[in-house]
Amino acid sequence: MLKIAIFNQKAGVGATTTSLNLAAASQRKKREVLLLDMDPQARLTEVYKHTGLEAQQHLFKFYQDDTPLSDLIQPLRNGLHLIAASPELMKVDSQFGRGPATLNRLAHGLAALAQAQPTLEVVMDCCSLLGVISLSAVFASDLVLVPVATDYLSINSAVKMDKALNALQPVLKRKIQRRYLLTRADKRKAMTVEVEQEMRRLFGSEVLMTKIHEHAALAESARMGQHVFEYDGESAAAQDYMALFYELQDVIKQLPRSELLAA
Ligand SMILES: Nc1ncnc2c1ncn2[C@@H]1O[C@H](COP(=O)(O)OP(=O)(O)OP(=O)(O)O)[C@@H](O)[C@H]1O
Ligand SMILES: [Mg+2]
Repeated sequence: MLKIAIFNQKAGVGATTTSLNLAAASQRKKREVLLLDMDPQARLTEVYKHTGLEAQQHLFKFYQDDTPLSDLIQPLRNGLHLIAASPELMKVDSQFGRGPATLNRLAHGLAALAQAQPTLEVVMDCCSLLGVISLSAVFASDLVLVPVATDYLSINSAVKMDKALNALQPVLKRKIQRRYLLTRADKRKAMTVEVEQEMRRLFGSEVLMTKIHEHAALAESARMGQHVFEYDGESAAAQDYMALFYELQDVIKQLPRSELLAA
């Protein structure tokens, strides 16, 4: 089971857009994909609300009643699978604490799911707070994908993320594999070029070659309750996300095997 956490402590950088459309690209390539909405704001869940999601099936139940993750998966009409979020996720910290038991719970839940569905790929859409929910996604993941919008402030957020992930490594006793994805890129803007140069100077090969450009289709498709492949599979936005899928295939091959075998 491959598990990717999509996370940046800066809000509005394209985390949810990337979760949805990367999952869709993987599914186009015949992968079985589970989207895990880990944001109390439930923006990803909202995209599919109109499709008749079961309102009582959401991730908080896993924490509250020990409901197995497999029971919370809702199949979507487009072939993707979703575990929905709800505002109650905000309460996980206060109700269950921030100790190792809570932090590792998701990893254990996913390990149980992997027993039954070893080929499932899991994409976790995190919220921008570094709370227990986002941390547990990082703990459970094989790879953290950090979307970085191409504006100057985003460089600081990437540096902050790097420090936060480094600080967690001694706790996890392993390197946290991470890649930075430049989003909202605009070739015509000097800022895009400068931010890209600086990101590559700071983080080298951890910055993916693929960039997600500014595309109106990404906002419009989500508004219409679709991923961009449903909206327009030939669009430049769909091509960007397919390129991301292909590049990540190479990244995944290079991950230490222990990380992938750790279920
Ligand atoms: N590449 C892009 N081109 C155009 N619009 C985009 C792009 N990426 C994201 N957006 C739009 O920007 C807004 C924020 O994107 P998104 O919700 O994916 O970010 P986020 O990091 O998940 O934000 P939050 O912190 O609120 O969860 C959305 O309206 C989305 O449609
Ligand atoms: Mg989001």
